[in-house]
Amino acid sequence: MRFLAVKGSSRVKGNILLPGDKSISSRSIIISAISRGKTTIRNFSFGKDPLNTINVFRRLGVKIISDRPSKTVIVFGSGLSGLKKPKGDIFTGDSGTTLRLTLGVLAGQDFSSTLTAGKSLSRRPMLRVTAPLRKMGADIKSRLGPCGSKMEEYAPITIKGGCLAPITYRLPVASAQVKSAILLAGLYANGKTRIIEPLKTRDHTERMLRLFKAGIKTGRHSIVIENKGELRSPGRILIPGDISSASFLIVLTAILPGSSILIKNISLNPERSGIIGVLKRMGADIRISSRGMAGFEPIGNISVRSSQLKGAVINKKEIPSLIDELPVLMVAASFAKGKSVFKGVDELRAKETDRITSMTRNLKKMGVDIEVVNSAGSEKILIRGGAPLTGAKVSSFGDHRTAMSMIVAALAAEGATFIDDISCINKSFPDFLSLLKALIR
Ligand code: S3P
Repeated sequence: MRFLAVKGSSRVKGNILLPGDKSISSRSIIISAISRGKTTIRNFSFGKDPLNTINVFRRLGVKIISDRPSKTVIVFGSGLSGLKKPKGDIFTGDSGTTLRLTLGVLAGQDFSSTLTAGKSLSRRPMLRVTAPLRKMGADIKSRLGPCGSKMEEYAPITIKGGCLAPITYRLPVASAQVKSAILLAGLYANGKTRIIEPLKTRDHTERMLRLFKAGIKTGRHSIVIENKGELRSPGRILIPGDISSASFLIVLTAILPGSSILIKNISLNPERSGIIGVLKRMGADIRISSRGMAGFEPIGNISVRSSQLKGAVINKKEIPSLIDELPVLMVAASFAKGKSVFKGVDELRAKETDRITSMTRNLKKMGVDIEVVNSAGSEKILIRGGAPLTGAKVSSFGDHRTAMSMIVAALAAEGATFIDDISCINKSFPDFLSLLKALIR
């Protein structure tokens, strides 16, 4: 177990480029693998999750060459139906995106395979993805929840696909992973598959499928996909910098007096960058420049200077656009003067760990006035911020985003903080600590 001691720091300063976006990196492997042609992917994320996606598709017979120093991956696409039945089970690690999206692809394959998962992913709910895929005709067996508990399904999951029927499906939870799995399965269905979203979620799959010339049409809250023949590789994909990784550095800069940073070529996808709007409402000094496009993904540079933050209300409909940034936003709220309210945060309980528990326990230990309120069947978090935080012994709960959020809190706190088990950071941002060290003055 890697244990980390963090002392309050004076300030951060510098210009940085961040690794490629984790969600887009995984999608680039999956969609290239089932397309025709060779795809060269640049600025690929070498976090554990996208590496798991590579392993899974290699096991399905796809030739993939990766070169870490140049952050480049080359995928030789097998076409929609060219995947091979694997020998034995396929391990998806703890990558929810890999497991759920791959199920969508396997729903269209005429063979049976079993996907297994690591300790944390094996505890995460899968019924949300198995239910619509079964409706389309996939034959799926999974591990059921303990007797007497709410009906739920978990990995390992055995799936036998084949010819699928199109469906119209209203997502019961706002989830880009579930939406993406159905979209990928929709490529194998006999007609038009329509998905209706309760709240708009990240649309990286839709954008990338369009780049690969899929038959996809998007409306405000609905997406229609149909099989228009093979997907065609655009040849090259550039992965934008990861806004979720950037968020730890953005919040740290905002709350550490005298700090300023410039982060270049970051994804500014509107369904991913909700944190920018919230931090601006809190009084953060954030400027966006050099807006452009990387394929179909909007990108730009973000510069941040420290300023005194004030509390803000985060509404339920904003949650999908900042779902992964909630832990670090809770840290920002702890340093902001006044009350912050995070509404409709229930989905945080279904992440790598229960992030409501991990963050409230840790922040309380550092002296933050934080409480969780259940109102009208939905959970909200209240933080009365602005008092200094003090160092404490906290836990990552084995979750990368809890670990990095607590390192940010510790750097802006008084005294020393001890964080257990920080190896989980490798899941999304292996260079986090070295980049941070280079920025600390
Ligand atoms: C992701 C979608 C979100 C997010 C996760 C990555 C994706 O999960 O929290 O880190 O790549 O589509 P849900 O779909 O479960 O909301």
